[in-house]
Amino acid sequence: MKKVRKAIIPAAGYGTRFLPATKAMPKEMIPIVDKPTIQFIVEEAIASGIEDILIITGKLKRPIEDHFDSNPELEENLRKKGKEELLGLVEETTGLNLYFVRQPYPLGLGHAVLQAKAFVGDEPFVVMLGDDVMADEEPLTKQLIEGYEKTHASNIAVMRVPHEETSSYGIIDPEAEAGDGLYNVRKFVEKPDPEDAPSDLAIIGRYLLMPEIFGILENLEPGVGGEIQLTDAIDELNKTQRVFAKEFKGERYDVGDKFGFLKTTIQYGLKHPQVKDDLKKYILDLSKELESGAIENNMDPEAHELEAAKEDEE
Ligand code: UTP
Repeated sequence: MKKVRKAIIPAAGYGTRFLPATKAMPKEMIPIVDKPTIQFIVEEAIASGIEDILIITGKLKRPIEDHFDSNPELEENLRKKGKEELLGLVEETTGLNLYFVRQPYPLGLGHAVLQAKAFVGDEPFVVMLGDDVMADEEPLTKQLIEGYEKTHASNIAVMRVPHEETSSYGIIDPEAEAGDGLYNVRKFVEKPDPEDAPSDLAIIGRYLLMPEIFGILENLEPGVGGEIQLTDAIDELNKTQRVFAKEFKGERYDVGDKFGFLKTTIQYGLKHPQVKDDLKKYILDLSKELESGAIENNMDPEAHELEAAKEDEE
């Protein structure tokens, strides 16, 4: 059995849900407190035993490459000023086995993964979405690798979602549970309407795949939204070899979505040694103000001005 050594992080999408912030900046670089999202993903890969990471980038994604490069001027400056702790933070993102390839057009997640064909060769590998942060005692990628070691097959991470949200995800049609939270799967369906969804188990941003997926991706027609869908390729793969779904029971933060990003920031802020005490106090004070209704009355001064102007006109 081949070892899982390689990870792909697709980060070439437009990030339209986060406009205007993503007009000139990759969404994967938006920080959660003080760390870009993509650094959380790279750390999960390393903590799971991954040796080589390929990041799929596109137009405007240069800051991702720069973030994982050295910055000799900044390092020298921090060294001179004796700011050893900050220097450590800057240096910890350099010297990793990171590679970059560009996806010329964002034609879909399946197309992004296809760009990694030469990098992956004939080994099993993982795909980790650049805007999905996962938190659990054991990293989710490591859980998938353990699933692969048991089953010698692809393992796709899934999670229960509210039924009305199935049209935002790839959804599985599960057979009986095969133990350890692993399911055999009858079908993988991309973004079904809730009335057609075969279950509430949604594919989330971690996939362990066998290399045969590339042959399928090369010949795949565009699916939902006119994009080359990874879910459709996985459904094809499942017709020729076993593909398991692994139910994730930890926390998932969808940082590509505005509300998801805000929740993630608060959760991580409450754990961050520098800000957690102040943030906790701030949230407690804020909730008292919200409860008393005081905050609604002075939240948006501009809206008040507009309202006053309207009243004057009338
Ligand atoms: P998303 O659909 O969440 O990302 O794709 P998006 O298209 O950038 O975002 P919205 O929906 O417009 O807000 C999941 C991941 O796949 C990558 C994205 O960068 C994201 O990390 N992706 C998507 C690509 O690399 N290439 C693509 O063609 C599509």
